[in-house]
Amino acid sequence: MIQTWNFGAGPAMLPPAVLKKIQNELLDWKQGISVMEFGHRTPEIEALFLTLESNLRSLLNIPNEFTVLFMHGGARAQFSALPLNLLAQGEHADYITTGHWSHQAALEAKKFSDIHIGLDISTVLDGTIPPCTDWALSPQAKYVHYTDNETIEGIEFLNTPNVPNLISDITSSILSKPIDWAKMGAVYASAQKNLGIAGMCVLIIRQDWLKPSKKPIPAILDFNLLAESKSLYNTPPVFACYVALLITEWVIAQGGIQAMQALCAQRAALLYDYIDNSDFYVNTIHPLSRSRINISFNINKNKSKILESELLALSTAKGFKQLKGHRVKGGFRASLYNAMPLEGVEALVKLLKQFEQQNR
Ligand SMILES: Cc1ncc(COP(=O)(O)O)c(C=O)c1O
Repeated sequence: MIQTWNFGAGPAMLPPAVLKKIQNELLDWKQGISVMEFGHRTPEIEALFLTLESNLRSLLNIPNEFTVLFMHGGARAQFSALPLNLLAQGEHADYITTGHWSHQAALEAKKFSDIHIGLDISTVLDGTIPPCTDWALSPQAKYVHYTDNETIEGIEFLNTPNVPNLISDITSSILSKPIDWAKMGAVYASAQKNLGIAGMCVLIIRQDWLKPSKKPIPAILDFNLLAESKSLYNTPPVFACYVALLITEWVIAQGGIQAMQALCAQRAALLYDYIDNSDFYVNTIHPLSRSRINISFNINKNKSKILESELLALSTAKGFKQLKGHRVKGGFRASLYNAMPLEGVEALVKLLKQFEQQNR
């Protein structure tokens, strides 16, 4: 069997050790019962949630004044839940749109509330993010929403904007770097990239924002109800939370966020250095906002479309999976989440080099 490397943007590669553990425990997690079969109000599942929360708290250094909620509906549910919960009649929020996902978040929020666009570079695609002193922020905004890492375009905020009351969509960067809590009102991430599998979304929110909403909002999106019930308002996505627990244990065993951050930097440098030193491949994102995680690139040649489909077929056959770029950008996208070892990126660079030599 050939070695496969999964470069998918999400659902994404899981650490093999975690998959093995799931396999070993699948039929008998505790007391001869699968984790999928446990009642969600049993002490075992309660303990699972408490341990997951406590692991996240220690990994991400979450201050006590923040509440951790495990919710349904992915990050997209938060696109609606945030304005519904946080913006009362007459209040508004600023949205910074740097790509597809932040644009989607703003579009959804607009359905329910007054939204100001503080910066829109969502269609520019070269990722030059003007400094936040140049953003059109409104002094009365309840919060400023941004997407930390644009998974499709490969644009990342390498420094947290110096703005208070931020809400950050950290779906594709959670557990890859520390969070600057002093600037945050809330962060959220669906799990299917660095935190396991689809089905669960974690919301970490400042407690002073957990006031009962004056507007009628769907109970399932109501932060207060979720907080009061300790994320057990209805049947939670237990299996996804179980996988997230195993991921947090794995990250702790690897050395925590510092180790993940260092590996992330190494992986990205390896691929970017190669692309930058080759005139065959190109990445057009500004170096100050290039994603460390989702690296998109194209072939920089006449007939590049033909060459790109040849390379895609070759790489897939050789075990490099899900490298096709998003339809918005074309070309290739290598998603380098925490589970990807350096070895996977070394193998990819070797393949890209060989293809370049053969087609120069
Ligand atoms: C940055 C970001 N935000 C939001 C989403 C949407 O997540 P979900 O499909 O879990 O709603 C994605 C999905 O890839 C994403 O990458």
